[in-house]
Formats: sequence, structure tokens, C-alpha cells
Amino acid sequence: MRVGFLGAGLIATYHSKSLRRSGAEGPCGIVRAGVFDPNTDRAAAFAAASGHTVCDSEDAVLDSCDAVYVCTWTNEHPRLVAKAAQRGLHIFCEKPLAVSLAAAQTMAAVVNASGVTNQVGLVLRRSPAYLWARHLVTQPAAGRVMAVVFRDDQFIPVQGHYGSTWRGDKNLAGSGTLLEHSIHDVDMLRFVVGDIARVNANEANFHGLDGIEDVVAATLTFRNGAIGTLTTVWHDNLARPSLRRVEIFCERRFIVIEGDDWFGPVHWTDADGAEHTLQGEALEEVATPLVDGDLNPDGEFVRAAVAGLPAWPTFDTAVDAHRVVDAMYTSAHAGGSSVQVES
Ligand SMILES: NC(=O)c1ccc[n+]([C@@H]2O[C@H](COP(=O)([O-])OP(=O)(O)OC[C@H]3O[C@@H](n4cnc5c(N)ncnc54)[C@H](O)[C@@H]3O)[C@@H](O)[C@H]2O)c1
Repeated sequence: MRVGFLGAGLIATYHSKSLRRSGAEGPCGIVRAGVFDPNTDRAAAFAAASGHTVCDSEDAVLDSCDAVYVCTWTNEHPRLVAKAAQRGLHIFCEKPLAVSLAAAQTMAAVVNASGVTNQVGLVLRRSPAYLWARHLVTQPAAGRVMAVVFRDDQFIPVQGHYGSTWRGDKNLAGSGTLLEHSIHDVDMLRFVVGDIARVNANEANFHGLDGIEDVVAATLTFRNGAIGTLTTVWHDNLARPSLRRVEIFCERRFIVIEGDDWFGPVHWTDADGAEHTLQGEALEEVATPLVDGDLNPDGEFVRAAVAGLPAWPTFDTAVDAHRVVDAMYTSAHAGGSSVQVES
């Protein structure tokens, strides 16, 4: 299985390192194939660190591999995914899939029709913290989930370790904190609490970047009757790179996820007053049996591709999150009115 990369920036580097950690190179016979990035310095640095070969075009990468990672800025994803699917390559595409819901839906249709193994970068689906929180919510002892408060804040990622400027350009990023960052949060709200039926949202733009909102506050009504809020903020406090805090209120259990997105801690309190906390390796140990395979998204993608099996989360899962994000923008642009999420 020859693996190529389109884009050699921050997230491509993350996936390349994660592939190495997964151990898939040995047993799966993963071969490092081509990488292309119009920023040739980045491509060269990526190749030197990973063992990939620098190519001078997208097509050269696509010709060099059986599976490809699409890790460019967002508006390039649809075109590159279509090219890869046409060649029958297995595809890992970063989130968000595209700058619009319609484009994301077309991408999912294209990969589904081509029958290739496909996976998206909604990596929190394999986070021990969220897997464990979901387990706690679904236990009968918790009762029904009633409410959720989800807060996500980070410094606006056109600075700091992101080293990107494209996130300030609506033509490349589509929009701001909700689509570019908090599509993860929407996906986790769906994963832990359930499908979302209706939203109301408001947005603000403090930085003055055209079309790049930096605050969104949304109210969500879930199909199971629960009600929640999502607040997402891009500020300039460089001491806060990316921080989430989630409070989930069930009839007889209160759950908090805080600290690290992967390793928690997760705290929970039951009706008998018992208080519990799990974090780090102990959290990983209890969460691992909750999924098929292991928690490394990249190892699981290439293993599925080698075996010709489906991977997850799929493009369809990402489209479901895009639907909610799209409804939130529709609401925000209409002054916060109630919008049904297309099902
Ligand atoms: N899953 C996650 O948690 C996560 C985290 C960060 C970024 N992302 C997503 O990953 C994507 C990339 O983000 P990043 O942080 O790596 O950005 P980045 O700026 O670090 O890297 C993007 C790279 O894509 C290159 N590029 C642009 N067009 C290209 C093309 N046609 N072919 C090849 N390369 C091209 C750019 O030159 C740039 O080097 C975005 O869609 C972003 O939303 C996901």
C-alpha cells in the first residue's frame, strides 16, 4: 500500500507521525510515496522527515500511490478528492470536507460511488475522553440525557504554531471558527448526545476578517429531547491554544470533559453522591475496548485500505456534521431564527 500526501503542512505532519506511531509501516507493508505542496520548502521538509518523495504536481502524487491523504486548505479538498476517486485511490480527507454543504455532499456521493475506502479527519471519534463520556451517557444508570453545555475556545489560528494565513481568507477556508474548528464539536455533540433536529445561532466578528466569524453561540434541540448550547470563540489569548470544556447533564449523572481532548480528565458524579475521575492511560485503557480496532486513526485507515474494508469516520459522517453547521449559519445569517437540520 503506497501512501501519498497532498499538502505538507501542520496536519499532514501530524498524520505522517501518527502513521509511524501506528506501526502500520511494518506489518501492513506501507510504503511512503509522493508528496506535493506548492510551498516547496514545506514539501522538502516533510519528505526529509517522513521518507516521502517530493513530486512536482498533484498528478505525480496521485500516480505514485494507492491511498492518498488530502491535507490542503479546505477549498482544494473537493477537486483533489474527485481526482483521487477517479483513479480508484483510497482517500483520507481532512475536515471540513469543503467550504459548503453542497460540495461536501457531492464529495460523499463521489467516494461512495467509487467504492474506495474513505475516512475523514474527525479524529475525536477515537478520543478516549469522548468515547468514555459517550459510554457514561448511554449507561442505564445515567437516565436520559437532558442538557449539554459545550465550550470551545482557541486563539485565532492565523498566528502561533498554526503559521497559517489561509484561515483568514473566506475563499480558502469558507468561514470562521464554526466551520473550520467547531465542526469537530458538532460531530462530538452528535456522537455523545445524539442527532440534532433544530438550531438557533448567533455570530460575531471581532477581528474584522471578511466572512471569518470569530464567535458563534448556538442552541441545539436534539431528536431525543435534550437541549444544548455550543459556544465557540477565536480570541487573541495565545496562552489558550485550543481548549474545550463539556458538561453533560443526565437525569441521574453529571459528566464533565476538560483538559486534554484525548486524555481528559473525565469526571462524573452519580445520584448517590459518588464522584469519579479518569484520565491519561487509565482513561485510554477503559476506552480502547469501546471501539473495533485501535485508537490511532491513521493506522486504522491504512489497515482498512489494505484489507479493502470500510474505514470510519466516513465522508457520510462528515456530511451529517456539515448539515448542522450549515443550519447554524443559516440561522445566524437570519438573526438567530430557528432552523431545522436537514435529515
Ligand atoms: N483534524 C484536525 O484536527 C485538523 C487540524 C488542523 C487542520 N485541519 C484541516 O486540515 C487542512 C489543512 O490544515 P493545516 O493546518 O495543515 O494547514 P497548513 O497551512 O499547515 O497546510 C496546508 C498546506 O496545503 C498546501 N496546499 C494548498 N493547496 C494545495 C494543493 N492543491 N496541493 C497540495 N498542497 C496544497 C499549502 O501550501 C499548505 O502548505 C484544513 O482543511 C484544516 O481545516 C484539521
